[in-house]
Amino acid sequence: APDIPLANVKAHLTQFQNIANANGGNRAHGRPGYLASVTYVKGLLDAAGYTTTQQSFTYNGATGYNLIADWPGGDTSDTLMIGAHLDSVTAGPGINDNGTGSAANLEVALAVARTGHQPDRHLRFAWWGAEELGLRGSRAYVNGLTTAQRSAITGYLNFDMVGSPNPGYFLYDGDNSDGVGAGPGPAGSAQIEQTLAAYFTSIGVPTRGTDFDGRSDYGPFISAGIPAGGIFTGAEGRKTSAQVTLWGGTTGAFDPCYHASCDTTANVNDTALNRNADAIAYTVWALSGDGGTGPT
Ligand code: PHE
Ligand code: ZN
Ligand code: ZN
Ligand code: ZN
Repeated sequence: APDIPLANVKAHLTQFQNIANANGGNRAHGRPGYLASVTYVKGLLDAAGYTTTQQSFTYNGATGYNLIADWPGGDTSDTLMIGAHLDSVTAGPGINDNGTGSAANLEVALAVARTGHQPDRHLRFAWWGAEELGLRGSRAYVNGLTTAQRSAITGYLNFDMVGSPNPGYFLYDGDNSDGVGAGPGPAGSAQIEQTLAAYFTSIGVPTRGTDFDGRSDYGPFISAGIPAGGIFTGAEGRKTSAQVTLWGGTTGAFDPCYHASCDTTANVNDTALNRNADAIAYTVWALSGDGGTGPT
């Protein structure tokens, strides 16, 4: 898999910040900063050769949008989806939550195009609307699928908050190997978790499980029986002293600016963002195959 340039990911964060600054300080559902964010991401994907669809839904009297981007080729009956929510809360620009997941996935999608990757599986990227109001966009998408369309989606990767300033390295615990919290996810979730884990092992960074409880856009997918997984660097919770020993940082919140006006470009840990963008690329390449022809 290619190395994902951190500078490229950070350039997208700067654009999200600029969009918020120009639109009342946020990128929230029903506000102009949300649609401007969709337009920014869509323009780059269209130029790179993706087939994009802007899907509308209504929530709370406002129109929301999901952006779906298909990479032409691969077995569409064996589709791997990669998603992130693109909306912020109204309180702030939403750069760690979830500019980071949105920008990392965007840069992985652009790396697929740059390298001419020809995977065995079909790849479909998604940027979800109105996650912050209760997973509204991802739920509208999954609910709108026919039975055949749903069974063609054989895996879903979710990235929500992957650059927290005081980061942990949490993987959604799809196999419930820690035995606490929500039970195991659909069969296949364990393989996703183990593939993400293999990347972190390769760079010598320890990971821990985080409850597979549906608190982000993978929820509607696992409810539909679709295997899922993802990375999370922590939100309002506090890092324990044992976790400080593991990962460094401090015994404060993983993200002290969670859902606040200070969730700006200053609220991102570059090392975490860089590692996680590379982990996403590794996992997309490892799980999608190279069609027997692809580079790297
Ligand atoms: N979905 C939460 C939010 O956007 C953050 C979160 C992600 C919490 C993953 C737990 C696990 O605010
Ligand atoms: Zn989020
Ligand atoms: Zn949030
Ligand atoms: Zn696990």
